[in-house]
Formats: sequence, C-alpha cells, structure tokens
Amino acid sequence: MTLAITPLGEGLGAVATGVDMRTPGTEDAATLMAALDEHIVLCIREQSFSPAEFLAAAALLGRPIPQINGYNTLSDFPEIGIISSDITDVYGSGEPRIQGLTWHTDHSFIAHPPRATILYGIDIPATGGDTSFCNMRAAYVALAADIKARIDGLEAVHCYQSSRSPVPMLTRTDEEMGKTPDVVHPLVLSHPRTGAKALYMSTTRLERIEGLARDESDLLIDELFAHATQPRFQYHHKWRAGDMVIWDNLCSMHHANGGLPAGAKRYLHRALLANETT
Ligand code: SIN
Repeated sequence: MTLAITPLGEGLGAVATGVDMRTPGTEDAATLMAALDEHIVLCIREQSFSPAEFLAAAALLGRPIPQINGYNTLSDFPEIGIISSDITDVYGSGEPRIQGLTWHTDHSFIAHPPRATILYGIDIPATGGDTSFCNMRAAYVALAADIKARIDGLEAVHCYQSSRSPVPMLTRTDEEMGKTPDVVHPLVLSHPRTGAKALYMSTTRLERIEGLARDESDLLIDELFAHATQPRFQYHHKWRAGDMVIWDNLCSMHHANGGLPAGAKRYLHRALLANETT
C-alpha cells in the first residue's frame, strides 16, 4: 500500500488512503503529521481497530492522554472516550444528550488543552451525524490589519460552561468542577509546531476577553465567531465506518450536527493527544 494525501476542499481537510495504522510504513507517521499541520483535519480511511489498536495508532501521531471528563470512557482504557447516540446527562436530568452541537475547540476550559483529537467511527448512521470543522488559521489570516492589531496579545477567560454558551454542557460532579477553575488563553495562538497564528475560541467555553468592558468583549467575540464560521472556512465530514479523523484543536473549531433518524445508532471512540509544548 502507498500512502496518499488528497486535499478535500478550499476551507480545510484532507483524506489519507493507502495506510493501515496497525502496520504503517516507516515514513507514514511523519507524512501524516505534515498533512495534519497543513490541512488541520485529516481523515484516514478504512481502519479497523480494537481499543488497544486504536490507542497504538493514536500514539503514532502524539501522546494520548486520559479523557478530561470522567464520564463516558471505556472502563479498561481511560484514554478512550465514547461518543454515542445513547449518551445521557447522567449527573443531571438523565435525558439523552448529543454533545458538541455548537462550534468549539476541545477542552479549552483546562490549562493545557489537547493539541489534537482523534475520532474513530464504529457505528455510523446512513444519514445524519456529520461533523463540521472551521479553519481558525485561515480566519485569522483573512482578518483586516486593524482587527489583527487590536486582538494580537489579548487574552480570554475560558470556563467549563460559559454564560454565553448556546447549549448546556453535560452536568459534572462538584468534585470534577472543583478541579477546573477558570483559565486564561491567548485569543490569538501561535501554533507550537508551525508557528502560524490562529484564533483560539469556543462558543461553549469562552467567557470574556480580559481588559475589555463586558459589552465590548461580547461584541468582539460575536464578530470574530461570525467571521470565523463563514462557509469559506468550513469543511463538513460525512462519516464512514472505519474513518479515523484527527484534527488540530489549536487552529480549528468543530461541532457535531446531530440529525440522526429516530432510533439510529452512532458510536465512535475518541482519543486526545497532548500539546507537548505546554
Ligand atoms: C465533538 O464535538 O467533539 C464530537 C463531534 C461529533 O460527535 O461529531
């Protein structure tokens, strides 16, 4: 097999074919990392993993870390999270809940968020359940020079559930909440691998921009979200069983789309890779 990378469109994303991540060629991991740096979202097609094989494949691309929230992990693999149509708000109402329905980057409410997230599609419905991505590096580049000058160097407060969040987060125990006090991240992040600047934002976690009055902060955040989520910066992933999709959290946002037919099953495994520079 020969590894081939095919870009997916204008906004971001690429597909990798011709690699079995259980038995990759010697140069394959480096080629995939370079493709991830360039395209930000990478779909590696036609994989087939046990949980241990999935973790080993993830480890070719970075260091897997335990899932941040205690719920919905495989009992023998704290590094593997479960994304499922059967998930409920177990510590809250107990109702079914699709996670991640609005634009976000994973776990910006912690001091050292994961550099990348990997999902492995196991049960994929015939329709619905797509994942959308947007390119926060291209969005930053496309900003007017005066906006760049205004936002470079600003810092933003992130928390588990922002008062601005359009959707509720899954309820956490008080113990879990106590472990994650609010944190501050740059609004414009320089990528640790590429050095390229990108907007670093999340609709569910970003509370306010430090040093600005609340109304000024809200207005600026609204303007930047509207800019960054324009269709020209987006890619929509239609899942196939066996897709291993990795994305760079430091220069993108993503969201689940839901829209599953009644009773349809969607089930994926998730790994998080450490940002080794933090
Ligand atoms: C997520 O938001 O991390 C999950 C995306 C999805 O389920 O499509």
